[in-house]
Amino acid sequence: MERVRYGIVGVGGMGSGHAHTMQGVEECMLAAVSDAVPEVAESVGEEFDVPYFADYHDLVDSEAVDAVIVATPHYFHPEIAIYALEQGKPVICEKPIAVTVSAADAMVAAAERTGTPFAVMHQQRSEPVWQAARKLISEGRLGEIYRTMLVYADFRSQAYYNSAGWRATWAGEGGGVLINQSPHSIDRFTWLGGLPSRVTGYTATKGHAIEVEDVAAAMLEYPNGAVGYIYCSTTEAPGTDILELSGERGKLQVIGKELHFWEIPAGVRGFSDTSTGMWTRPDAVEVPVEIPEREAGHIAILRNMARHLLYGEELLSPGVEGLATVEMINAIILSGHTGEPVGIPVDRARYDAFLAELVATSNYGKKATGPDLRVTDNVHH
Ligand SMILES: NC(=O)c1ccc[n+]([C@@H]2O[C@H](COP(=O)([O-])OP(=O)(O)OC[C@H]3O[C@@H](n4cnc5c(N)ncnc54)[C@H](O)[C@@H]3O)[C@@H](O)[C@H]2O)c1
Repeated sequence: MERVRYGIVGVGGMGSGHAHTMQGVEECMLAAVSDAVPEVAESVGEEFDVPYFADYHDLVDSEAVDAVIVATPHYFHPEIAIYALEQGKPVICEKPIAVTVSAADAMVAAAERTGTPFAVMHQQRSEPVWQAARKLISEGRLGEIYRTMLVYADFRSQAYYNSAGWRATWAGEGGGVLINQSPHSIDRFTWLGGLPSRVTGYTATKGHAIEVEDVAAAMLEYPNGAVGYIYCSTTEAPGTDILELSGERGKLQVIGKELHFWEIPAGVRGFSDTSTGMWTRPDAVEVPVEIPEREAGHIAILRNMARHLLYGEELLSPGVEGLATVEMINAIILSGHTGEPVGIPVDRARYDAFLAELVATSNYGKKATGPDLRVTDNVHH
């Protein structure tokens, strides 16, 4: 194999975006496309001059396809990814890997059972600033983490929510800002700071005529006693993207794409325990951090999976790590609705039953939104 021949299932905004992106990647080749709407499959298939299928099984089963990209609305990710993994076809699944932790578990189990490579399109991990942040954490430069914070406040118009019937509905998408717009931010947050063990959440619909949340916040408690805070919304302009991790030996702050790191040579508690002065404070020295130059975005994940299959390159965003994002999302939604703290790992059966009740109330299929537009956002590339 000289190039990995990808088949894409779901060629709306994001799926057709991936078809375009891989044209410039020497390790990748578009081999086939599939979409539940036959005319969409046909028009993208003809655009790229590749076979097209209305049924994803035919794409997965095709001998022309080495690996599968799943880019349908989230509810369909598990079924399609598990089928592909079981046929021994490696998968890149769009974020979030699933709507529920139980479905995400089944995907992870399928990848483990079959030994088939599985990645999630959390492409922001490939960005230089997040690679640099991750390196600081893995080198232990922060020491024990005491506090975390993520503020990801963005904007979406009502027209965005009206652009496809599945968007912002319990039955079509299974959540709002948490399940759709925030997974990249939540992925980097849990990738760097780990998962809390208890979440006290708040969710609300403030700025749009939608049935799911467009504002979410939560207080986080971690297994080591650390505390954290997360806020996500699609109701603000200009956007805010801030991540902070504060530890015994260092403090990391990323605002947008600007990274700051302070070293605390004496340690925060170490200093407190030993200093005899009443108003002393430990030195915190800002140190420059090298930000590597590297390819980033969707293209990096497409190439990385191809290089994983061709040359054994380590996956940048393994599918199993997509589970942490779903744990966090489910925990905040459940806690926001019940008003009670929720433990992580989330109780699978409880979440499934809770979501089923919301799905039963959903307007999916009854929204008067006009034709589905299939245009993905041009910011998350
Ligand atoms: N990684 C990123 O930066 C990023 C950005 C945007 C969207 N996404 C993700 O991509 C996925 C798709 O989002 P989108 O904006 O492209 O949506 P979209 O509505 O534009 O496209 C979805 C396509 O999937 C097709 N489809 C629906 N059910 C299907 C099925 N069962 N089998 C085959 N095809 C099916 C639809 O007909 C449509 O063409 C979502 O999970 C979303 O979260 C990721």
